Amino acid sequence: MENGTVLIVGSGGREHAISLQLAKSASVSNIHIAPGNAGTSMQGSNHDVAVDDMDGLCELAVRIGADLVIIGPEAPLVAGLADRLRHLGISCFGPNADGALLEGSKEHAKSIMNRLGVPTAGSVMIVESSQIDSALDGFSKPWVIKRDGLAAGKGVTVTEDIDEAVDAAKRAIDTDGKVLIEEFLQGEEASILVLMDESGFSILPSSQDHKRLNDGDRGPNTGGMGAYSPAPVATKIVMDRVISRIVEPMHRFLSSRSVPYRGCLYVGLMIENDDPRVVEFNVRFGDPETQVTLPLVQSDLGLLLMAVSEGKLSDFKLEISDKHAATIVLASEGYPEKPIKGRVVRGIYTEEKGVETIIHHAGTKSHGDLVISSGGRVLSVTGISDTLEEAIKGAYSRISKVNLEGGHYRRDIGHKALET
Ligand code: AMP
Ligand code: GLY
Repeated sequence: MENGTVLIVGSGGREHAISLQLAKSASVSNIHIAPGNAGTSMQGSNHDVAVDDMDGLCELAVRIGADLVIIGPEAPLVAGLADRLRHLGISCFGPNADGALLEGSKEHAKSIMNRLGVPTAGSVMIVESSQIDSALDGFSKPWVIKRDGLAAGKGVTVTEDIDEAVDAAKRAIDTDGKVLIEEFLQGEEASILVLMDESGFSILPSSQDHKRLNDGDRGPNTGGMGAYSPAPVATKIVMDRVISRIVEPMHRFLSSRSVPYRGCLYVGLMIENDDPRVVEFNVRFGDPETQVTLPLVQSDLGLLLMAVSEGKLSDFKLEISDKHAATIVLASEGYPEKPIKGRVVRGIYTEEKGVETIIHHAGTKSHGDLVISSGGRVLSVTGISDTLEEAIKGAYSRISKVNLEGGHYRRDIGHKALET
């Protein structure tokens, strides 16, 4: 690709991280984002087309003459946007609906893992409320109850309270006609983003998300309150096992499909005593993991993602920096239950001296010269440095200068890694 035109689908921090990195890619001349945020509008043209508007997105891709479409979130992938774009002859980063079912159905993901012998939590799928008690009896507490389909990050209940477990299982059966009950995995989590096509796979630097709202991993689950990369828990021995026990079998399976998987396979791991097990697969880049992973990629991102979308990844030489990155998410008052939107965000452009920092916009909109909050996760501040400690320090110093009424962020991002 030369002087390429790229369309990014999505509006979060992940999509802003992609657009910032494409802006640095010599192969890319025009960046379009649908719908984008106040940050992405600084690298390209935002288009007011929603991520679930399949017709609108296809029309847009054709109209702008997109050489490549990068699909950020899971919902359009599960709904078959990549299938439609490929049908139109447009190169696309992201799997077809068939591949996206790995995230779209936990039952499907479990059955593939069990068939391939990929290590994961033991589980049982039930369809009748009368089966709930005996299914829960088969596991010890805490109980893990999972809805089958996409649930915008709210599909998993982990609880020590048997009544809450029964209730979650009942509600899932009422809504979806089935529920997955799963063994609780002990250990530390890590996220591994794997670029994959039928020619091969490349593993991006490991990272760790912070899913709970409050310091010390307390409070409700969120979309992710911060992340850092690389994650020390993903040691060489762990990564060798991840490759041989998880990535290679998944790659063999996914590249043998009639339409091979071309995109990012997000492997969510639980690691205990150097033993990795899969908690979940996602079929896209993670958010906020992307904000700490992509800044470490030194290769031209446009060429890299184009290679994946054309099935030529094995020809690509991926270059990764040996720096560290940490990102801190600034969330709106009331997030995650009822985020208050529409407030002015100030102090975004005060750059940090000494440490490289990036503002990754998420739920933001431009209003004249002002930036206004428009979502639960408003932005994240990423620090990049030779050491994780410096990266974290830089990110915290810069976020302290951002001003949003009622805005809050965790104060302990990356602390676990610093203690090891
Ligand atoms: P998921 O949507 O499957 O990623 O689950 C959301 C979060 O719930 C994960 O990031 C874990 O923190 C937790 N979780 C999910 N499944 C398990 C499990 N089997 N054991 C322990 N924690 C889990
Ligand atoms: N950070 C978790 C996710 O992207 O699903």
